Amino acid sequence: MKVLGIESSCDECSAAVVEDGKKILSNVIASQIEIHKPYYGVVPEIASRKHTEWIAPVVKEAIAQSGIKKNEIDGIAVTYRPGLIGSLLVGLSFAKGLALSLSLPFVGVDHMLAHLYAPHLEHDITYPYLGLIISGGHTIIAKVEDFQTFTVLGTTIDDACGEAFDKVAKYYDLGYPGGVAIDRLAAKGNPEAFRFPKPKLHKGDHSYDVSYSGLKTAVVNQLDLFHNKKFEKTRENIAASFQKTAIDMIVQRVLKAAKDTGITKIVAGGGVSANSYLRKRLGDEPDITAIFPSLKLCTDNAAMIAGIGFHLLVSGQTSSYNLAAAARVPLFRKTYP
Ligand code: KG4
Ligand code: ZN
Repeated sequence: MKVLGIESSCDECSAAVVEDGKKILSNVIASQIEIHKPYYGVVPEIASRKHTEWIAPVVKEAIAQSGIKKNEIDGIAVTYRPGLIGSLLVGLSFAKGLALSLSLPFVGVDHMLAHLYAPHLEHDITYPYLGLIISGGHTIIAKVEDFQTFTVLGTTIDDACGEAFDKVAKYYDLGYPGGVAIDRLAAKGNPEAFRFPKPKLHKGDHSYDVSYSGLKTAVVNQLDLFHNKKFEKTRENIAASFQKTAIDMIVQRVLKAAKDTGITKIVAGGGVSANSYLRKRLGDEPDITAIFPSLKLCTDNAAMIAGIGFHLLVSGQTSSYNLAAAARVPLFRKTYP
């Protein structure tokens, strides 16, 4: 079964054709990074306008690169939540129109579940496992039962992990996109140069939760307070110290979850799962099997949408043409979706 996937939830306009939820025939990603760079962040209005311009050629290119004909597509999967509402609407409306015109089933896909599916495109992964979904808008540690069922064990109580990377990078003019810039600078810095505080959220319901707002404030507003004077106050040292604190926090929680649940397989997804320190840190952990997507599949792409879309479609789950886009996922604290 060949599924066309469409992704437009943020600043990547992407379309892909994936066979049987596994074989990527094409994965076209048109990034808007250069367009948003001057603003140090994604400007929603510009993002949706660009998606409107790009969606048709991107889909056309994905079908061309896949080597199949339009009439060989068996179904369409599209991100319908969460994300920027104007951007989501472009992909969703386009998918509905295409499905209608080609008389194909279509299914709306949750972007976060798709991020977690990304490593399944490249690895044979059995359930259950602990899922670590870390992106610009979400930070989730979950017990994952199958491709669409998971229980949230922990999440952020304020900012998302990627958001903290982006805000620190913006404040110190470290580069855009922030996560990639900090990762690169950190490789040349000393993580001992600043000793940033870590939130104490160990009690009761918060065992696996994280918080990034305090860390962000410490890095941005109270840098000198945490400076270890033996080291220079350089951009590299700020990046390395911030990155270590931010990543150690989530690693400590997911390792606690592994110990408590006895589940030693950790599968990561989302933009921050591209972070080199995170990959090394979990990869070096004895008794843990850590599985990451390749770098291209960490950030937003339509292959992961088509991949999970296949499983939804073969299990008979299709969406109606009334499906609405949603910026947020309600009540994901206890169960997700
Ligand atoms: O999954 P994604 O492309 O979009 C969302 O669904 O949010 O994630 C984007 C986030 C941004 O916050 C970006 O700074 C972060 O992922 N990111 C990274 C790295 N690459 C991207 N954060 C840390 N280290 C990286 N190497
Ligand atoms: Zn994403």
